[in-house]
Formats: sequence, structure tokens, C-alpha cells
Amino acid sequence: NYYAILMAGGVGSRFWPVSTAEYPKQFHDMLGTGETLIQKTFSRLSQIIPKENILILTNESYNDIVLEQLPSVTQEQVILEPAMRNTAPCILYASLKIKKQNPDALILVAPSDHWIEDEMQFAANLKQSFNYCETQDTLMTLGILPTFPNTGYGYIEYDKLDSRLIKKVAQFREKPDYKTAQKFIQSRNFLWNAGIFIWSVKSIVAAFERFQPEMYAHFLKGFDAYNTTEEKAFIAENYPLAENISIDYAILEKAQNVFVLSATFDWNDLGTWGSLYDKLDKDESNNAIVNANVFLENATNNIIRTEGKKLVVIDGLKDYIIVDKQDVLFIYPKAKEQDIKKIVGKLNL
Ligand code: GDD
Ligand code: MG
Repeated sequence: NYYAILMAGGVGSRFWPVSTAEYPKQFHDMLGTGETLIQKTFSRLSQIIPKENILILTNESYNDIVLEQLPSVTQEQVILEPAMRNTAPCILYASLKIKKQNPDALILVAPSDHWIEDEMQFAANLKQSFNYCETQDTLMTLGILPTFPNTGYGYIEYDKLDSRLIKKVAQFREKPDYKTAQKFIQSRNFLWNAGIFIWSVKSIVAAFERFQPEMYAHFLKGFDAYNTTEEKAFIAENYPLAENISIDYAILEKAQNVFVLSATFDWNDLGTWGSLYDKLDKDESNNAIVNANVFLENATNNIIRTEGKKLVVIDGLKDYIIVDKQDVLFIYPKAKEQDIKKIVGKLNL
């Protein structure tokens, strides 16, 4: 009864110029391991979930890339979105398709672009969550011990006195402002939301019905068409009309039956060049070098990535991102990594 919804529709613009709208970061070998992020994620999930029950949700334009990178996946497993509407619409749509096929399904929702090293612990945490959700009407989140007031994450508050592995969530807050995030960290009973969710298809569909009645009705109209030849036409017409909203705002901030399992694996969402730098091996001067042929002097704390065999010579550079691609040379301070999104906007890319 185990299914997975693997979300692979984001553009990852903070990883420009490696990640582009044509070829986003989940389809790149960001870690220099020989495998792309989605390939790593797929193999991690297939240890727990039957391969044929792993659905890949992505934009129409990435269909060919998905099939090429995941050769064991069939076209039926790739769920195509004709428009980018964030994660709530695609999760509801995929859940209704699964419900039609198997009303007793238990679903893992996972991003395709995160770093998780300890696969044993990851699998153990998923099993614990699945077991819980099998008997309880619960929306399970995985919580990560926070280290700084990151405003790009969701925060999960639990009762300090609750020492159980799986705890009831007092409050879920998506992307608080800096001051609020600081307060959350100081109060010590908040976890970061890893963006990985476990629930029964019944629970998630019921949550949409209650908290997003319009979106629910909108996608339910197509129920008869799902998993048939009529589906494509229904989705082409109706998907773009869905509200653009993430699952965090649409459901998790509102529902009362949210629970959290404090994750026992290391996690990094590889959201920025800085978070990637943290996970890469470094040379003796703390430079992280991916695929690059370099000669460095007085260069420290840089992240350097090239394509092809070009020799890169650097002297006197500290804390920089250096990316050489065929059509772009990018030299940018690590400290300004959050501004890369804006640059991409300004360049009209
Ligand atoms: N299929 C599909 N369609 N996938 C999408 C879409 C879409 O329209 N939009 C985003 N995704 C995918 C992204 O590729 C990523 O794998 C995942 O969904 C989450 O989207 P992000 O855009 O990366 O979300 P976020 O980082 O702002 O916030 C989420 O993740 C944080 C942890 O990394 C939230 O769940 C936060 O609460 C959480 O802390
Ligand atoms: Mg993210």
C-alpha cells in the first residue's frame, strides 16, 4: 500500500547558472557523485516503496528528462503539470489519482532535490511514520533540529513536555519573518519542516476537502477521467485554473491533526550554493571543487564548478562562487547567494 509522490517541478533559480528553467537543479549532479539529485532520491525511496508506486510530479517540459534519467520509470508514473502552481495542486491531483487506484494507500510526499546521507535512518523514520498513519488520521511531518533563524523554512512547534518520538504539533508556521524565527529558535520547542510528509490518501484528501474546498471540488470534477484516456484533456483545461499555493500554507498551517517525527537522519535541502558548499568535500584551504581542474593560490572558502576540461587558475579570492559553463561565466560572492534569484530575474532568464 506504499506510494510516493516525488515532487520535481521546481526551477531552483538560486542555483543559477547551473540550474536553469530548461534544466533545473534536481536533474543535475550537484554533489559531483556521478548521480543527479533526482536519481539519488529515486534510489533512496525505492528501498522502501515499490518502484512502480513512485510517481514523479513535474512540469510537462521536463517529461523527457525524467524518463531519460530514471529508465525504470514508465510514462504512467510521470504526472505532468501543464502549469506551475506550486505544491498544493499537484499533491491533490496525484492523491486523487492514487485514491482511485487504491483507497487504502499510504503516501510519502518528498522533494527530489534534498541531501540525506543516512539511508538506514531515513528508511526507519519512514516506516515509523507509515505505521502510525496506517491507523491514525494524521498528517505526519519530519522535523529537523534548527541551527539558525532560517526564514526560508516552515517551523513546527511541539509541546516541550511531550517526550514521545511522534508528537502532536501545536502550531505549523511557514516561512516566518526573521524576528519570529529568532523567537522560535530561542524557545527550543520548534523544529524545521523537512518538507517530507507521510499520510494516508484518506487523510490528505479529507484535509483538502475541509481546508481547500474550492481546489478540492475543482480536481474532484475530473475523478472519472483520472487514470483513463480522458485525463489529459481534463488536466490541460483545468490544472492552470488551480490556485498557486504550497501545501504548507494550504493545509499544514490549517489542519489540527498535524504530527511530527523528529528525524534521526542528517538533512540538508541544498537550497543555496552555501548549503551545497557545506556538504561537499573541501581541499586544505576549504575550497569545494566540483568537476574542476584548478590551480589555486591564496584562494580560500570558494566553491568552484566547471564543465569540460578547462584549467581554472585563481589567486586571491575568498568566499566566492565560481561557475564556468559553456555560455556563462559566473563569479559571485557567497554572501549574496540569496540575490541570485533576482539576478536571474533582471537578466530575463
Ligand atoms: N511537481 C511540482 N510542481 N513540484 C514543485 C512545484 C510545482 O509546481 N513547486 C515546487 N516543487 C517542488 C520543488 O522542486 C521542491 O522539490 C519541493 O517541491 C518544495 O518546493 P520549494 O519551492 O523548494 O519549497 P520551499 O523550499 O520554499 O519550502 C518547502 O521546503 C522547506 C524545506 O526545504 C516547505 O515545505 C518548507 O516548510 C520547508 O521547510
Ligand atoms: Mg526548497
